Amino acid sequence: MSKARKQATAAEVAAAFPLSTYLSERSRWIDQALRRFLPSPGTKPATIHRAMHYSLFAGGKRIRPILCLAAAEACGGDPRDAMPLACAVECIHTYSLVHDDLPAMDNDDFRRGRPTCHKVFGEGIAVLAGDALLTVAFEIAAQCRGWPRYPHQRIILELAHAAGSRHLIAGQVADLESEGKSIPIHELRFIHQRKTSALLCCAVRLGGMSANCTPAQLNALTHFGMQVGLAFQVIDDILDITQPSEKLGKTAGKDIQAQKATYPAIVGLERSKQIAEHLTRKAFEALLPLGTRAAALHALADYLLRRDR
Ligand code: IPE
Ligand code: IPE
Ligand code: MG
Ligand code: MG
Ligand code: MG
Repeated sequence: MSKARKQATAAEVAAAFPLSTYLSERSRWIDQALRRFLPSPGTKPATIHRAMHYSLFAGGKRIRPILCLAAAEACGGDPRDAMPLACAVECIHTYSLVHDDLPAMDNDDFRRGRPTCHKVFGEGIAVLAGDALLTVAFEIAAQCRGWPRYPHQRIILELAHAAGSRHLIAGQVADLESEGKSIPIHELRFIHQRKTSALLCCAVRLGGMSANCTPAQLNALTHFGMQVGLAFQVIDDILDITQPSEKLGKTAGKDIQAQKATYPAIVGLERSKQIAEHLTRKAFEALLPLGTRAAALHALADYLLRRDR
């Protein structure tokens, strides 16, 4: 089958994809699994467990765990096998938001449609809730089955690498250090690839690993995850200036106020949209080797480009 024909087939399947049912069903599965994996909110000391639940079950979009499950299916796996890894990634993501919102970082009062963790529980407990969410992520990931090509050690390394000081944290450091400065676009790309793409790409790769994917499949998923991950942060920058706070569930316009380095600030709104579209097209292309089983991933990338929150 020609490349163009293959692409048309994957796109056709994605066009008919029942995305809204898919998203709500997967979100429900993920919430159920997270409740199983996490200590209940009443577990002593209740303050920390209540704070963890408060931020984790606040109505996030669950994009990363949903991508993880979809990647497992794209490689012929069972999403149930991917669930501990999907939940681990969502815990790491939520920790990063709790800390990102602290007064010492982005100083945000609203997140996921409610007051931020530190506004409700105080800064000390918010720091600790973030720490605990990061730690429990590894406890959850360690409960995965393990696969011939990807034993436990490989899985834990993958997560630690994405969350660590060369990736997610590196991006957050560079983000803080770039406030109020005008930086070249390649440096902004460095920030976004690290603070956001790294974990999103990790979610997709872990999904593939839970299907014991081949190196070629992992390669396709990696390219897909990197493109979609960067597009995701470019869109996040765009939404900050184009959508109202009520829609976003977080305070809009904060990037300009904090003089953050963002795509719209550096290349303008229209160019930013074009870049996000270009990255999404490259993400579609990366899915070609996976065939029509990647229809959900294709539909998800398309949705992430068009999202309004
Ligand atoms: C927000 O991520 C932070 C970024 C990395 C851009 P999401 O937009 O996925 O936030 P939730 O999980 O839906 O709250
Ligand atoms: C968040 O980037 C990245 C991480 C939390 C790792 P932003 O600071 O742009 O995210 P929002 O806009 O507060 O959700
Ligand atoms: Mg930030
Ligand atoms: Mg922020
Ligand atoms: Mg943002």
